Amino acid sequence: MKIPIELINYLKKTTHIAVLTGAGISAESGLKTFRDAQDGHWAKYRPEDLATPEAFTRDPKLVWDWYAMRRNKVTEATPNAGHFALVELESLIPNFTLITQNVDGYHRQAGSKNVLELHGNIQKVKCYDGCGVVESWNTGDTPPHCPKCNAYLRPDVVWFGESLPLDTITAAHKAALEAQAFFSIGTSGLVEPAASLAHTARQNGAIVIEINLDPTPLTPHVDFALHGKSGEILPQLVKELIK
Ligand code: APR
Repeated sequence: MKIPIELINYLKKTTHIAVLTGAGISAESGLKTFRDAQDGHWAKYRPEDLATPEAFTRDPKLVWDWYAMRRNKVTEATPNAGHFALVELESLIPNFTLITQNVDGYHRQAGSKNVLELHGNIQKVKCYDGCGVVESWNTGDTPPHCPKCNAYLRPDVVWFGESLPLDTITAAHKAALEAQAFFSIGTSGLVEPAASLAHTARQNGAIVIEINLDPTPLTPHVDFALHGKSGEILPQLVKELIK
C-alpha cells in the first residue's frame, strides 16, 4: 500500500496526535475481533450473555470462564508490528495519546507510554460490589472472592451498560479536541463513546485517518482511508515519516 505523500507531509508538521485502536490491531497477534462475521466473539456468543453485569449476576462462572479463556489467549500471544509502530510514532510526536478499546494491555506491553484503556484491562480483577479492591488476575476459584468484603471478584473491564472510567474518557475527549491528526485503527466504530471521538476531533480541525481491512461507518467522513492490515500499514507509515 502506498501511503499518500500529502499525509506524510502533514504528519511531519504535526505536534498533537490522538490514536484510537480496536480489536483489529491485535488480530495479527492471533486474538479474535468481536464482529468478524466468521470468527468474531459476537458471531458465536451474544454480548448480553457474557459481557453485562446481568450476565455475571446470572452465571458468574460462565462469565469468569470466558474471560479466563480470553485472558489465557492474551498471555500466550504477543504484541505485533502494528503495536510497535505506534511506540515509534509516539517517540516522534511531542503530544501523543493512544486511546484503546482493547483490554489486552498490548500497547503498554509493546512500550507505548501515554495509553488510555477505555474498556479496562483483562489482566486485572476488581470487586464486583465496588468496595475498591483491584488486583491482578487471580487464578483461584471461579470466580474468586474479594479479600476485603468477600463479594465476587470480576474482570476489570467495562461491560455493556456500564459507564467508562470518568477520568479516562475525559482525557480521551481532551486528546481528540487537541489533535491535529486523529487515527482510527482496527475498530468497527460501532461502540460509543469511543466511536464519537473521531467526529469530535474532526469538528475541531483534525484530519482523520482510518486504517482498517474494510470500510466502516466512519469511512465516508475521513480524510485518508488506508485499507489493509494495521501490522503492515503502520510500520510503513512510520518508515515514511522518518525518511
Ligand atoms: N488490520 C486492520 N483492521 C483490522 C484487522 C487488521 N489486521 N483485522 C480486523 N480489522 C478490523 C475489522 O475490519 C473491524 O472493522 O477491525 C475491526 C474490529 O471491529 P470489532 O470486532 O467491532 O472490534 P472493536 O471495534 O474493537 O469493538 C469495540 O465492542 O464488544 C465491544 O468492548 C468490545 O472493545 C470492544 C468494542
